[in-house]
Amino acid sequence: MSKNNTMSQNPIGVMDSGIGGISVLKHIHAQLPHEALTYFADSRYAPYGNRSPQEIQQRCFATADFLIAQQVKAIVVACNTATAAAITEMRARYSLPIIGMEPAVKPAAAASQNGIVGVLATVGTLKSAQFAALLESYGRNVKVVTQGCVGLVECIERGELHAAYTRDLIRQYTAPLLAEGADTIVLGCTHYPFVRTVIEDIVGKHVTLIDTGAAVAKQLHHKLTEQQLLTDSSDTPHITFYTNSQQPEAAAVIETLWGQAAQVQLLL
Ligand code: DGL
Repeated sequence: MSKNNTMSQNPIGVMDSGIGGISVLKHIHAQLPHEALTYFADSRYAPYGNRSPQEIQQRCFATADFLIAQQVKAIVVACNTATAAAITEMRARYSLPIIGMEPAVKPAAAASQNGIVGVLATVGTLKSAQFAALLESYGRNVKVVTQGCVGLVECIERGELHAAYTRDLIRQYTAPLLAEGADTIVLGCTHYPFVRTVIEDIVGKHVTLIDTGAAVAKQLHHKLTEQQLLTDSSDTPHITFYTNSQQPEAAAVIETLWGQAAQVQLLL
């Protein structure tokens, strides 16, 4: 099969309810350094974690339509909550490759020494049928303790990574997992890697933290290879961020999380 030349030079679209998916974008850029990337933060509607699956599906359709209008060749749903609520409907609606993600229960179960795994995620993810199926498949031989982290995504959206309030929430949400003896904790929301050092500080170095960003980038690489969609460019790629956030500091928070100067387009 010949390479799909026209499409292969197009950007990869990456979407999240907000800026959490930038934690996944970093892994994608590290593994696919020449791919152009177009990121969409649906921050005006964040958090998704407390919304109904139907509302999340509508937001995912709106976001995917926007990315497809930017000519993306594939979409990464860099959000556990959106994947659980909408990936099936998105795949039925669009023909381009769509890569989703789910909390890392499988690798956590394999990594745990004492068989007790904690999962930090949004209420939406934990309530979903997909999460129940994940536990059924990979959580049978371990004890899985889950904790919904209401309010934590909002702290990260505001860029308050090290604020006392953020720290208090993390202490509150990790306490039940530690009380059960979890030696491995899954960061089941793409926002949480941005407070990884705070979590580590609170739970201690003997607890292993696991997230899915690198695995998602690997899966994307595999999918693009299979579909003949990898770029053959060796140039420095364009990386563009779009956000519909109404916070005045939105662009600055994106630059902080991305870790370097970023081209950010504010959508009104
Ligand atoms: N970043 C998202 C996730 O991975 C969701 C955050 C939210 O909007 O609730 O689940």
